[in-house]
Amino acid sequence: MIGVIGGGQMGSGIAQLTAMHGIDVCLVDVNSQALSTASSSISSSINRLVSKSQLSQDKAYDAIKRLRFTTDLNDLCFADFIIEAIVESEDVKKSLFVQLDKIAKSSAILASNTSSISITRLASSTSRPKQVIGMHFMNPPPVMKLIEIVRGADTSDETFAATKELSQRLGKTVITSQDYSGFIVNRILMPMINEAFYTLYTNVATKEDIDTGMKLGTNHPMGPLELADFIGLDVCLSIMKVLHAGLGDNKYAPCPLLVQYVDAGRLGRKRGIGVYDYS
Ligand code: CAA
Ligand code: NAD
Repeated sequence: MIGVIGGGQMGSGIAQLTAMHGIDVCLVDVNSQALSTASSSISSSINRLVSKSQLSQDKAYDAIKRLRFTTDLNDLCFADFIIEAIVESEDVKKSLFVQLDKIAKSSAILASNTSSISITRLASSTSRPKQVIGMHFMNPPPVMKLIEIVRGADTSDETFAATKELSQRLGKTVITSQDYSGFIVNRILMPMINEAFYTLYTNVATKEDIDTGMKLGTNHPMGPLELADFIGLDVCLSIMKVLHAGLGDNKYAPCPLLVQYVDAGRLGRKRGIGVYDYS
């Protein structure tokens, strides 16, 4: 059984993907409302696949049957592999890893879906740093083909091999990163998104022209501002802060406009308003 913690956009997608690959999943969130939202979004995503004949009714039924939802972290005491996908805050993640270390089986691997935070520091809050690893899914997890695996300073070869095997069983291509702020994908992607905010902030162009420029000019499926809304502006800001603090260069300073949107609660699609208004 696999445990997934955090039933937001990433945790619910990871749980759906895992259940659709024939693995029992227990999804944990502190917020029961988040769990009911996760349950209904997973069901509608699976039903959509059935209606498009991309998944048989039997397989859909099997996936739904494999999912359990709970607010009790102790339910993960039998999990072999636990994937954390809670808020992008080092302090909150560390305190979760301290609890998990006590609850999880001694053989269990503790993986983090963090976008940028040091795996080595998360691992050092446990008594099992060899069994802690970064398993970075891309959004939306059922669709995107990549998992970025991040080895902490003490991650063992056995933990790496088991994580790679699970990623491949989930149908993903794996890339491996050393444990430096932002790893590979966000080290490159987030400065581009931040630069798009600076381009808007300094009135170089409208949000529509910035996004159209990158979509049609460079064949990106979404423009950078649209993508920021999709990821969550709070998540983008947290990642920029980690890059700025960890890599120590002013070029990573978060754009004041991104900061202001987050301060105003304009967090993107999940709140109905970000750079764009979805209401
Ligand atoms: N769950 C399951 N399937 C989903 C889905 C979800 N949440 N969202 C979309 N899909 C499926 C749709 O069913 C559809 O399938 P078919 O083509 O088989 O019909 C397919 O994905 C395309 O979806 P749509 O037609 O609704 O919309 P689209 O063509 O605009 O694609 C998208 C949506 C896949 C999200 C596409 O816009 C895209 O690739 N955007 C860029 C996403 C991206 O860059 N993600 C990485 C972000 S960075 C990151 O994740 C790291 C980090 O730490 C921040
Ligand atoms: P989200 O805000 O959609 O969901 C976070 C969930 O975690 C919420 O439901 C919240 O109730 C829950 N939570 C918070 N503290 C908790 C705790 N102590 N125990 C259990 N549940 C708790 O966030 P998200 O966008 O799904 O991001 C989750 C993680 O995945 C972050 O580390 C983020 O950086 C990473 N990530 C995000 C994306 C993205 O595009 N949004 C992509 C890849 C990785």
